[in-house]
Order: sequence, then C-alpha cells, then structure tokens
Amino acid sequence: MDRAAVVAGLGGWVPPTVVTNDQLAAVLDTDDAWIRSRTGIQERRWVSPGQSTGDLAVEAGRRALWSAGTDSVDAVVLATSTPDRPCPGTAPEVTSRLGLGPVPAFDVAAVCTGFVYALATGAGLIALGTADRVLVVGADAFSTLLSPSDRSTRVIFGDGAGAVVLRTGSYGEPGALRGMNLGSDGSRSDLIEVPAGGSRERSTGLPVKAEDTYFTMQGQAVFAEAVRRMAESVRETASRIGWQPTEIDSLVLHQANARILAAVARRLALPRETLLSNIGRLGNTVAASIPLALADGVATGELRPGHRVVLAGFGGGLTWGSLALEWPQLRPAEPEGPADSRVGAGSDATGPYPAGPAPSHSPRGQRPPANF
Ligand code: UT7
Repeated sequence: MDRAAVVAGLGGWVPPTVVTNDQLAAVLDTDDAWIRSRTGIQERRWVSPGQSTGDLAVEAGRRALWSAGTDSVDAVVLATSTPDRPCPGTAPEVTSRLGLGPVPAFDVAAVCTGFVYALATGAGLIALGTADRVLVVGADAFSTLLSPSDRSTRVIFGDGAGAVVLRTGSYGEPGALRGMNLGSDGSRSDLIEVPAGGSRERSTGLPVKAEDTYFTMQGQAVFAEAVRRMAESVRETASRIGWQPTEIDSLVLHQANARILAAVARRLALPRETLLSNIGRLGNTVAASIPLALADGVATGELRPGHRVVLAGFGGGLTWGSLALEWPQLRPAEPEGPADSRVGAGSDATGPYPAGPAPSHSPRGQRPPANF
C-alpha cells in the first residue's frame, strides 16, 4: 500500500532574548569580526531563566498544527539533546501541553542530526500504519549546556524550535518524503560531547568536575567531518531517487557554520543561492536549525512549492542524514496573535527575525501571554 509521509504543516519559534556578538565580546576574549568571519553569525536567541526546550517545542508545535489545519495527531516525535530533565523524555509533556491526548510521544537524541532522524522515525510510523498523522519537532536550548568561559562554543549556538506535521499520502504527491540516507560513526563520539551527567560518569561515584558538565567540541575535526558527511549524504539521497545533485533547487543544511554550508554547496557544484540560511540571525540551533531554515525560506519566498529540496544534517554521535522532497503548498504558520508573533519571517537575506510571544502553558487555541 502507498503510505508515504507527506509534509502538511510547518512552524517555528525562537525565544525573544537576542544575544549579539558585541554582548559576548564584552564577557569573553572574542570580537564581532572573528565571529562573523569564522562562523557567519551576527546574533542568536537564548532562553531566559526558567525557560526550557519543552517551552520552545510547544510553541513550534502549536504553529505547525495550525499550519496543517489540524488539532490532532497520532504520535509526537521530539528531536532534542537538551531535554527539560535527564529523565523522563520531554515529548510526553509537550504532547499534553498541546492538548493532543494520550498518543505515543518520545524523544530522539541525535544532536544536530536529530530533526532528520525524527522525520525518518515519523515516516516509519506512517509507513507501518501505526499513525496517520505525526507531529515532528526539533527543539534545543543549547545555551544551557555552554560553559560561560568557552569562547569556541559560546559564540556558535542559539536556542529555538521548529516543527512539521506529517500526514499519510502517496509518494507521487508534493511534500512526500522520498529518498533518505542516514548514518553514524560512534568511534568518533568524543568529537562532540558533554562528558558528565550520564551513566558512565555517574557510575564512578566520583565528584563531578564542573567543566565536564558543559558541551565540548573539537571544532576543526567536526568541521571537516560535517562537510564530507553532508555532501556524501546529499549525493546518496539524490541518487536514490534519480536526481542529479545539480537539480536541487533548495539545499537546507543543518546551520552549523556559514563556511560549512558554503563548502558543502561547493562540493556539490551548487550555486550559493541554492542554500537556505538563517545562521546569521539565529546561530546554530541544533535540532531546530533545519525546520527553522525551512520556515524562514517559506516566509521570504526563497523556498517555493515545486522546489526540489534536500534537507541534510550532521552532528554528535557522530550522526548524519538527508531527505529529499518536492516542496508542497502549505498554509502559513500564523496562529492567534499579532503579526509580529509570526515565526519564520527573516532569513539572512531579509532583515530582523521577529520575536515570538512568551511560551505558554495555556491550552491550545488560547493566546499565549505576552509577558516579555
Ligand atoms: O552543530 C554540530 C556540528 N558543529 C559544527 O559543525 C561546528 C564545526 N566547527 C566550526 O564551526 C569551527 O571549527 C569553529 C567555529 C568552532 C572554530 O573555527 P575555526 O576556524 O576552526 O577555529 P579554530 O578552532 O581553528 O581556532 C583558531 C583560533 C584559535 O586560537 P589559536 O590557538 O590559533 O591561538 C582559537 O582559540 O581561534 C581561536 N578562537 C577564537 N578566537 C576569537 C576560537 N574561538 C574563538 C572566538 N573568538 N570565539
């Protein structure tokens, strides 16, 4: 039976607090020129005290459901590596807060590849007939993992969430997830890690070193792997469905570093204009970066119905993956609230990214309180 997973709704949300390069340069040995030239980042959004990944996920999920024109799904998959608590997963609580009832809900941990893995998981639930509609969210509050004194990580990451609704459909229709390629290499897990907080460290019974509770990354090695793996994965996915890489209209890479995006495009012989990018305004938002780039691309008109799109991620694990689809016509993610609460209205090309309203614990359909 033809049970393809089709993208039916899209939404995103970033917290209102903007952190500029100059603000970081005031407290770290860095400067705006270094950050812009080495990463392409001008500013990022960070959660405020007490705000969590789950709060971001609820807002993005609400918008994706609105965009899909539905208030029910059969499952929720949340990609995150900054859950609200180490245990339990964050997805069940997000699902309850969205009023979606007792449906299956679980987290997927694949760091910056998380959204691609979560889409693959959602598509699998649909293919098996377990679900007709799945909410897939990528959300991270990575600022909460960063060492206050580590200039090499603190300047890169931003917080946010993006989400899509997948529905059952057929492989030939716009929005259907078609080619897919996923991979991992656990022998290089030390390139991206938070050393403490897991069973390996806790079973020692030794006092935890503060520096081990923070995110660490071997930047240059990760850079090289990210370029190689994403380029290879895009090629593999394209070839599985008979596309030449040069036929891709929109390449939506994990927003790791502007230089990584450019290097992958060069390897694939794709022009710079093929890349959707919002890293300048949002930084690297980990599992949220791909759906937020999609939301921005739609809002600016850079991503249009009929485009041949490939999404590709790379991250800790190491993990990587990519997915191809023809972009569908979607209803804008514009739920209740004033125009400036929209998310996805500013790519790097077009001016400021709008602040959203504060996250809300209120039931769906009610306007979130504007307490920022
Ligand atoms: O999202 C998951 C995947 N993540 C990625 O793909 C990130 C991949 N890596 C990168 O994006 C880059 O490697 C970084 C942006 C992290 C670093 O850029 P780089 O050009 O590779 O710099 P580097 O690590 O080679 O460091 C060059 C110099 C060093 O100083 P010395 O040793 O040459 O004196 C660093 O200490 O730049 C220094 N540096 C900084 N200087 C000013 C590192 N961070 C900063 C900073 N400001 N924020």
